[in-house]
Amino acid sequence: MILSIAAPMLAWYDRARRDLPFRNTRDPYRIYVSEIMLQQTRTETVVPYYLRFLSLFPTLRSLAEADTETVLKAWEGLGYYSRARNLQKAARILCRDFDGRLPEDPEVLLTLPGIGPYTAGAIASIAYDRPCPALDGNLTRVYSRLYGIRDCVDLPDVSARIRDIAAQSMPGVRNGDFNQALMDLGATVCVPGTPDCARCPLGDLCQARKDGDPEALPVKSAKKKLAQKQYAVQILTCLGKVCLFRRTEKLLGGLWVFHLSELPAGFPEVSPRLPGKPLPVSALKRDLLGTARHVFTHQVWEMTLIHVPLLDRSGLPPVIEGGRWVTSEEMHSLPMPTAMRAAVAQADRLLTP
Ligand code: ADE
Repeated sequence: MILSIAAPMLAWYDRARRDLPFRNTRDPYRIYVSEIMLQQTRTETVVPYYLRFLSLFPTLRSLAEADTETVLKAWEGLGYYSRARNLQKAARILCRDFDGRLPEDPEVLLTLPGIGPYTAGAIASIAYDRPCPALDGNLTRVYSRLYGIRDCVDLPDVSARIRDIAAQSMPGVRNGDFNQALMDLGATVCVPGTPDCARCPLGDLCQARKDGDPEALPVKSAKKKLAQKQYAVQILTCLGKVCLFRRTEKLLGGLWVFHLSELPAGFPEVSPRLPGKPLPVSALKRDLLGTARHVFTHQVWEMTLIHVPLLDRSGLPPVIEGGRWVTSEEMHSLPMPTAMRAAVAQADRLLTP
């Protein structure tokens, strides 16, 4: 049986909704940008990025016509940069094939790069009031508790059941508000760990609350351990400049990094002869600067930061294939990932006369 949750959820939303800047607009483009930023990122983190991004790219067309590097720079620090690359790719497709309009049909939205079922449902419901669910981890938690679903939510038939419940729970009117009410509930009341059931508008209906153990749900499969990777980050400097490389790999693609070489697992210490990608120049010395760590979704980078000062008598830094010599100021104008933050600070120090 499907519980009637629309009325209490909408009444609660009218009373307790979070005041977020992307809720003060009906512009589908703005809603689209917010939903892409909100994938994998917390609301508080997103808000300043959202406001700045829209001041730089106020329309779909301005985003489509922008230089990709400027888009990545505006995304700098938000992580998961494929979102920014896909957002711009989609903007270009929309301007070319859709007359610059975001489609209303979630099935069509799904064909755009970077839009999966959750985001398609969120955009279609919030921007166009389509009655489609926007089921993510938060809503899965809410529904698994509400219906007391004790099977692992990662099993295909269990997730299909939750999708079915979510689809049947849509009110038909104020669909976007209903989805956002559930998002707020998942973020502020029906939180992971111990939920605040006393404040929940669905408290009287909730099976897990009746059973007395809402904190035990949802049941999820064990998380995979993050892959540990070791990298040597070599900061090449010469004549007041530092050498940066544009990543072509999928992870951090399009962003600028220092010279990176992956080291074999368990590589004990930085030796003058690093294995892996050799330095494209012969260096006279290497100074060990310290270590840094960055956690991605699927892997952890343990980085050893090394300064490699290059000497040059010709008056110009040596030509290094794929590399670009930049001043500190130029370095700060390029999009660089947060993973490089400690190395950027070291480079700044090294470049300061
Ligand atoms: N998470 C994803 N989309 C959201 C929205 N529109 N409001 C609040 N949290 C969200």
